Amino acid sequence: MTKTTTAPSWLDAALEFCVGKTRQNLSNLTSFPERTDGGQWLQTAPELHGWWVGGHWVGLLWLTYAASGDESLAVAAREWASRLLPQLNDQADHDLGFLFELGYVLGHRLTGDASIKPTALQAAGILSRRYNPRGQFIQAWGALDAAPELRGRTIMDTMMNLDLLFWAGQETGDPRYAEIAAAHARTTLSHHLRPDGSTSHVCDFDPETGAFIKQDTHQGLSATSCWSRGQAWGVYGFADCYRATGDPVFLNASRRLMVYLWPRLPADLIPFWDYDSPLIPNDVRDSSAASVLASGLLSLAAIENDPNLASIWQNRAISILESLWKNYTSRETGEASLLLHGTRSKPHNLMDHGLIYGDYYFVEALMRLSKPGLSL
Ligand code: GLY
Repeated sequence: MTKTTTAPSWLDAALEFCVGKTRQNLSNLTSFPERTDGGQWLQTAPELHGWWVGGHWVGLLWLTYAASGDESLAVAAREWASRLLPQLNDQADHDLGFLFELGYVLGHRLTGDASIKPTALQAAGILSRRYNPRGQFIQAWGALDAAPELRGRTIMDTMMNLDLLFWAGQETGDPRYAEIAAAHARTTLSHHLRPDGSTSHVCDFDPETGAFIKQDTHQGLSATSCWSRGQAWGVYGFADCYRATGDPVFLNASRRLMVYLWPRLPADLIPFWDYDSPLIPNDVRDSSAASVLASGLLSLAAIENDPNLASIWQNRAISILESLWKNYTSRETGEASLLLHGTRSKPHNLMDHGLIYGDYYFVEALMRLSKPGLSL
């Protein structure tokens, strides 16, 4: 099999649609979009300063700026990014990577403006303080003096926040950033990843001794099931770790997650919300799991050392994106989100809507195809 080099015929139309709708959303939004209801964005409360999703909206503005060359989108990205700043004073969450890598590092990469960097370095410093050296993991939720249940909790999503630490390590020359990120990834590999290549959403540890307690879930079906967005975070996050460290254990982890999930996708390649749902095929999909997976696969394809596998990852990503573009976008229906049929959390009764992170990773993946030389 040879690596696909030609851009798909629908790529330009898809990007044009994404840029147009983002411009439209920009003129309507007063706070950060999170999910849609009745086809319109529900916006996060201003006092949340973007909650965990603000970086995805800023990142979308940066990406559509890069796609279109429209400077007004870069101006908007900077303005919205500044609204994330109060989160630097709130140290109760691991999501600083989602917020400040997409809100700031991406802006630096796309514009070359070095004045954007110090804020992202500050965020990385705060994130690194969430590292528990006894258990060798980054605490997902809650303050550093929270109850033991929170202090000992890890989630698959944190795999996406490690790249901010790797970046900070390269910028500062301080090896501790990469050590923390790689140690967390190894702990995730040892405890979230099961022999069949599936992952648990959550793991609990004793925060004092670091001892592993159990697998669990928050947004998946059960402690023993595989939540589809968590699995996609893993494919993407382990690929990032391989790029940053060159350690083949992370490349193998990303591959193993793919071996598990690929045969479990339905014919149109858009995952159900949890691979173990007993309601499949009559259950809701999660288009955001598909877009995270597609972008992660393109990233994996770019660093895969087996050319055959690189082609497979690239072709699979394109197939997922084509399915999203043709059957899951709002291009003929008019909703405010780019993608339809995401699932924030079925256990919390939040499903079948647009999700800003689904939209972000859709455009990120399209941009990886459209401008492969771009550093994303
Ligand atoms: N990081 C939260 C989620 O994936 O829904």
